[in-house]
Amino acid sequence: MTGRYPNTRLRRTRATGWSRALHRETLLTPADLIWPLFITEGEGVEEPISSLPGVSRWSIDGIVARAKEAVSLGVPVLALFPNTQPERRSDDGAEALNPDNLMCRAIRAIKDACGDDIGVLTDVALDPYTAHGQDGLLDDRGYVVNDETVAVLVDQALNQAKAGADIIAPSDMMDGRIGAIRMALEMGEHRNVQIMSYAAKYASAFYGPFRDAVGSGGLLKGDKKSYQMDPANSDEALREVELDIAEGADSVMVKPGLAYLDIIYRVKRAFGVPVFAYQVSGEYAMIEAAAGVGAGDRDALLMEKLLAFKRAGCSGILTYHAPVAAKLLNG
Ligand code: PBG
Repeated sequence: MTGRYPNTRLRRTRATGWSRALHRETLLTPADLIWPLFITEGEGVEEPISSLPGVSRWSIDGIVARAKEAVSLGVPVLALFPNTQPERRSDDGAEALNPDNLMCRAIRAIKDACGDDIGVLTDVALDPYTAHGQDGLLDDRGYVVNDETVAVLVDQALNQAKAGADIIAPSDMMDGRIGAIRMALEMGEHRNVQIMSYAAKYASAFYGPFRDAVGSGGLLKGDKKSYQMDPANSDEALREVELDIAEGADSVMVKPGLAYLDIIYRVKRAFGVPVFAYQVSGEYAMIEAAAGVGAGDRDALLMEKLLAFKRAGCSGILTYHAPVAAKLLNG
């Protein structure tokens, strides 16, 4: 007596744990994770962020402790974002160029404590430093101007590289900035500093808690639609990525993550370069909120989503869940 469907039993390989492990196509490990951290002034300071339950801003000593934790968990990279004090913000964002700003002090402290046991990825954009919360310089009409902004971003990137940044990550979406920053790094003897470009960054409603975390949310008037991408577009994302690779990006990012898995997949298919997803603050908050109302198991929800990024073609994921996920993966 044979079964009725002898040749069509895909379920056969799913029946046991060992067999599921054997047939698994996608692997998620702590080495796939990049942990974004928010820095604040002071000593021994931890400031919880209410729109990001479980995430805090840390003073530099706390950031160093997180760096050591990342090393022990096997998380290879930290992404740093400063919460600049209001009195240090200005229309031109000049604090971004201060060699002793919060970002540079944090980079140096991490590198002093951990050396090359961890990579430090730094955000290049002016929004944590501007009084208006936009990522670039404004003209009289409040329009974010491209070329003048790129000139400042180049100096910002050099300032971070001098402090010891390993990966420069421009999140500003100005045109031409990757080429300009690459050239400046080469000329400034920072040839091995990488660039991870926020190549396809969308004007998204999912960034709210991040803007609270860096303190730009309350300052921002209007939106960022004149430079971040229209969520309706995907061919345009390929053009953005193509340009950034040609200009010298070592890797590219798609942001936000989950609502843009199709973009990740297309970029990976088209270019075969290392692609990273930023699972942004609003996505983190959604998982926590869903679990908070009993709509699912938090750990299962977050691991399934992280795996989806790998399946879509990502080399890694920026996620606020990095330490939680790494602990789960390390068992
Ligand atoms: C801005 C920047 C943003 C994020 C990273 N860099 C927000 C924005 O574009 O307004 C969002 C990250 C997140 O939501 O977690 N340079």
